[in-house]
Amino acid sequence: MSKSEHRENFSSRLGFLLISAGCAIGLGNVWRFPYIVGKYGGAAFVLVYLLFLLILGLPVMVMEFSVGRGSRKSIAQSFQVLEPRGTKWHIYSWFGISGNYLLMMFYTTIAGWLMLYVVKTVRGDFVGLDAEGVAGQFGLLMGDPISMTAFMALAVLLGMAVCSQGLQNGVEKITKGMMLCLICMMFVLALRSVTLEGASEGLQFYLKPDFRKLVYDAQGKNILGETIFAAMGQAFFTLSLGIGALAIFGSYIGKEHRMTGEALRVGILDTVVAFVAGLIIFPACFAFGVSPGEGPALIFITLPNIFNAMPAGRLWGALFFVFMSFAAMSTVIAVFENIISFAMDQWGWTRKKAVAVNTAALLVLSLPCVFGFNLWAGFQPLGEGSNVLDLEDFLVSNNLLPLGSLVYLMFCVSKRGWGWDNFIKEANTGRGLAFPQGVKIYVSRILPLIVLFIFAVGYWNKFM
Ligand code: ALA
Repeated sequence: MSKSEHRENFSSRLGFLLISAGCAIGLGNVWRFPYIVGKYGGAAFVLVYLLFLLILGLPVMVMEFSVGRGSRKSIAQSFQVLEPRGTKWHIYSWFGISGNYLLMMFYTTIAGWLMLYVVKTVRGDFVGLDAEGVAGQFGLLMGDPISMTAFMALAVLLGMAVCSQGLQNGVEKITKGMMLCLICMMFVLALRSVTLEGASEGLQFYLKPDFRKLVYDAQGKNILGETIFAAMGQAFFTLSLGIGALAIFGSYIGKEHRMTGEALRVGILDTVVAFVAGLIIFPACFAFGVSPGEGPALIFITLPNIFNAMPAGRLWGALFFVFMSFAAMSTVIAVFENIISFAMDQWGWTRKKAVAVNTAALLVLSLPCVFGFNLWAGFQPLGEGSNVLDLEDFLVSNNLLPLGSLVYLMFCVSKRGWGWDNFIKEANTGRGLAFPQGVKIYVSRILPLIVLFIFAVGYWNKFM
């Protein structure tokens, strides 16, 4: 029997959909989406973001799933299996897998903060504190490498423990349960938030588009370029595109369903979670007089104040941070699975060995991000005030995600790659929604330019 016949598959379609959605749903939805929507003016931004998901995210997702399913391999060997003899697409495997490691090197730290905030909220650490006191708690945490390392390690160990149980018994079973809990919990929290006194102003901010806000900020400065870039970048980040993190799940499924319908379902689930996260956060911000444009610290510095002021706030606060932790851990588990499969495909390691080596590797590799907030705070790689997390995030979000998406895109449309015909045949095998052949010109000529544009604007914004 060949090695690929021993490869595990998902036990159900629901498992595939929820795990792919779990990979997509993460900090990008529950932390990044609300704060950038807050920053760029609310509802009108959401519409632009949805447009980019459709015209950019969806086609690249179909391509990743198709490459995974067509090769039945992780990114370690998927290009090797499908590329024409003599071509070098497989070199990208190493960049792609680096993107997975880099993403996890800061993601585990933030997942750790969220789990620590569950403990702190249950323990009542924020009770009776004013806004300054709450911010002080966050400051104390940043200056405490020991607690940060302990909770980062908890995220790594929990994620690896799940993956060590295998695809069906570990990743599929746990993530499926977690995702179903997450979705239920979100609706309860959203219901609580939209029924708060004063919530309607937040709903209006979030749901009633004001297109002037796309173009001008509160000071009247033209920010259209920045807004569009933010919407496109968010589409890549939220779907984890370009680093093979979704392709792996295509490699674990059969040929019953066409990939476009599956990608659409994953995209819709991802969007629903981001949308409901906004329904939780914005009404609560307006009800308690917190500015929605607070930026990345929004949930850590401001939300405990909101829970403090709410009846049964400890309960709602703990639920909220559990919900955030589940979202973050679903991505951690999915990306760890990709990392583990890479080692299994590339070097023929057993799952046990791949888990052991990568647990040690990720515990060490995640330390620079932790230390960047305290012991190594003097290292400011991207200018004043930046830290290791910013550098890692920049390398992934502004480089590997857009360039990796471009590689998948060119691989699927170019004659010197897998090619359009092979891609379409794989994507459209099975029942369900077909990838429309009529979009070939758009996908092969225009979409690559859009992706290159994002890449260029990312650099311009960062360094000019
Ligand atoms: N897609 C992942 C997220 O949204 C990276 O957090």
